[in-house]
Amino acid sequence: MVIASAPGKVTLFGEHAVVYGEPAIVMAINKRTYVEMKAREDSKIRINAPDIIIRGITLTFDNNTFSIESDSAKILSELSYVTKAIELVVKKTNTFKGVDIKVWSEMPVGAGLGTSASIAVATIKAYSEILGLELNEKDIAFLGWQTELAIQGIASPMDATITTYGGIIQVQLIDNNIAIEKIRTSTKLPIVIGYIPREYKTKDMVIKVKSLKEKYNNVITPIITTIGNITRKAKQALEYGNLDEIGDLMNINHGLLEALGVSTKQLNDMVYAARKAGALGSKLTGAGGGGCIIALASKQIENVTSAIRSAGGQTLESGTSEKGIIITNE
Ligand code: PMV
Repeated sequence: MVIASAPGKVTLFGEHAVVYGEPAIVMAINKRTYVEMKAREDSKIRINAPDIIIRGITLTFDNNTFSIESDSAKILSELSYVTKAIELVVKKTNTFKGVDIKVWSEMPVGAGLGTSASIAVATIKAYSEILGLELNEKDIAFLGWQTELAIQGIASPMDATITTYGGIIQVQLIDNNIAIEKIRTSTKLPIVIGYIPREYKTKDMVIKVKSLKEKYNNVITPIITTIGNITRKAKQALEYGNLDEIGDLMNINHGLLEALGVSTKQLNDMVYAARKAGALGSKLTGAGGGGCIIALASKQIENVTSAIRSAGGQTLESGTSEKGIIITNE
């Protein structure tokens, strides 16, 4: 039996612009998803995910595709990251084994904390262990990204990369290669996460920005370039541990995400409540359309937390996780 776990993430800078080749800075958080796998005698794959409201489901693998015994579309969409990840490992390695799988999460699923990529990457790691294969981090991150691409149709490698490597990293897609750079900060980042149920999927939000860009290219392209410049500046501020500057840049980044049409009234309410309560900076994080904000709380963690709650959000306090994908039961 093997248990793999991978962290969730928040995007500190550069979401959406990263889809167009600009750099983004992402931080792994110390909340994780877990994928447990046990080899079976037959060639079935059975998944149980009590925490993310998936009841036991039986999948059969035949002619290189899965068939699933369930009629619920919602269940299928949650499961798709697990099954697609397995499918890609099978295709890459030409090996297959039946497994019992259990999935659980320490953070809300589908709220913009990168749980889909985290589940995909933990699945890839656990399944490759069961098959006795040695996949390195680069392979795992790439397969995780391909899983997201196959399901969402459009995705940057950001989430799969951060959940594989952990820490704080700058990610950029250069000529279809994932360029990553570890960022070492000389200070702790006291981040409070606020979240509300998400109204839209990541894919919807990415398509929304794409359409806006197609319609108003001269207007939207400079916004995307400026977000890239914010990210480059923020990298230096993080390395110097300049919290005031990091906060300012978060505020500017939020304004531009609002300009791209991905914020909502509820997200803005949380962002402004956090600033009023003393946060050095705050912004939506992830795709937007509901989901999460982050606030750099400095010494005001309690004030900022209760302000976000009063603005209607739930909160999660989180530090950086240096650990990316790991086998938890070794
Ligand atoms: O909310 P999330 O974790 O799905 O983040 C999406 C980030 C985007 O930049 C909007 C899309 C992407 O694939 O990078």
